[in-house]
Amino acid sequence: MTTFPKDFLWSASTAATQIEGGWNADGKGESIWDTLVHDGTGKIAHGENADISIDFYHRWREDVALMKQMGLKAYRFSISWARVLPEGIGKVNEAGIRFYQDFCDELLKNGIQPLVTLYHWDLPTALYRQGGWKNPVSPDWFAEYAEVVSKALAGRVGYWLTFNEVDSVIRHPFTTAGIIPSRVPEDKMLETCYQALHHQLVASAMVVKDCHEIIPGSKVGCMLTKLTTYARTCAPDDELATQAKNLENLFYADVHVWGEYPRLILKMFERKGIHVEMLPEDAATLKAGCVDFVSCSYYMTMTESVDPNAERTPGNTVLGVKNPYLPSTDWGWQIDPKGLRYSLIELYDRYRKPLMVVENGMGAKDVVEADGSIHDPYRVEYFRQHISEMGKAIDEGVEMWGYTTWAPIDLISASTNQMSKRYGFIYVDQDDMGNGTLARSRKDSFYWYKKVIASNGEDLD
Ligand code: BG6
Repeated sequence: MTTFPKDFLWSASTAATQIEGGWNADGKGESIWDTLVHDGTGKIAHGENADISIDFYHRWREDVALMKQMGLKAYRFSISWARVLPEGIGKVNEAGIRFYQDFCDELLKNGIQPLVTLYHWDLPTALYRQGGWKNPVSPDWFAEYAEVVSKALAGRVGYWLTFNEVDSVIRHPFTTAGIIPSRVPEDKMLETCYQALHHQLVASAMVVKDCHEIIPGSKVGCMLTKLTTYARTCAPDDELATQAKNLENLFYADVHVWGEYPRLILKMFERKGIHVEMLPEDAATLKAGCVDFVSCSYYMTMTESVDPNAERTPGNTVLGVKNPYLPSTDWGWQIDPKGLRYSLIELYDRYRKPLMVVENGMGAKDVVEADGSIHDPYRVEYFRQHISEMGKAIDEGVEMWGYTTWAPIDLISASTNQMSKRYGFIYVDQDDMGNGTLARSRKDSFYWYKKVIASNGEDLD
């Protein structure tokens, strides 16, 4: 049995757009998520998702009370940039600031440490109209916003993440960076994405440095979608293709940890004719903003093969080769608890930095029984196995600060906009079409995670 560190942060995680609603309440500006819904730039399953989401903006006190009952030690959430700065820069919305200050105070009062993600994909529309992350000035916009937030939450928040899944620009350019693929020439798409990514990497480094200055002792980390890839066979060609995938996945954290681009990635740019405009001062900025810890989301592993006929399966915004040894969720994501142990050992060995898993969870359909109870043994089993494997990684020497499930409460899915793809320990009465009372109720997994936290990970039964 693993002895988890004494102050281990048992936590759970959400993102502003997927829970808050109140899309135009109290002076909030629009984000690209709102734009996507309102002008039809993107398709979603339920046209009012981001307008109401799960109405957290109006129900957060009730939700914090439930989190307290669960015994959470920390809660990861993201700040809506446009709620704080409606135009992205310039005028500050005091009501938006107050909302996050009050919310953090309530968490702290209940013994829950806030862990803040500054950017979880909701670029203010005003900045999107100025080119968004393609604009070379975008790092300054982000630094301005982060300064406002860190000054407002200094003394309340000690743990910060700059960008959620910073690697995701390449996989879903619109949601994460406001790049609309149909408006970019196909042969320029990769270059455009890497350029936007470069601006995010520089922005992240600027904010790491600023945050350390504004809040001495604060811990600032990067956040990566950990897409560990296995070779489908031990054929050297499969191994090489797999290695390329893994190097690409790690490169984003490499820059955050080491403050420079890996030579292999720069060579890959050259080979593919990708020109990323880097300012002369960028190298120094990246070096001056190295992170204190590395965090990742972990949902599944991927498999790679050079065989074009290899069977494929969907994953978290990726389509990979199917691993015949693993079961899948209803949405085809392959469940691989041992892959979490593998990933943590890999990350720790590579970076020698403390780690946090800041997203891990299973989207599943839940059934409400006649008496209102919700039995979700599949979710409990998913978490039991992942936490157990994380424990083994700790036993093997990996230094970990915390574990954050996705999510404490049902929320809108980022990739499918469904409510029926449920992740929470707390059920929300709302269907994919927005019908329902939004009432909260506790699933069996709620009581299970409570027990895990209370026993500091000893009781996983
Ligand atoms: C992560 C994102 O990639 O996966 C979350 O950071 C997202 O925003 C989560 O919700 C689960 O994905 P989905 O598409 O099932 O909501």
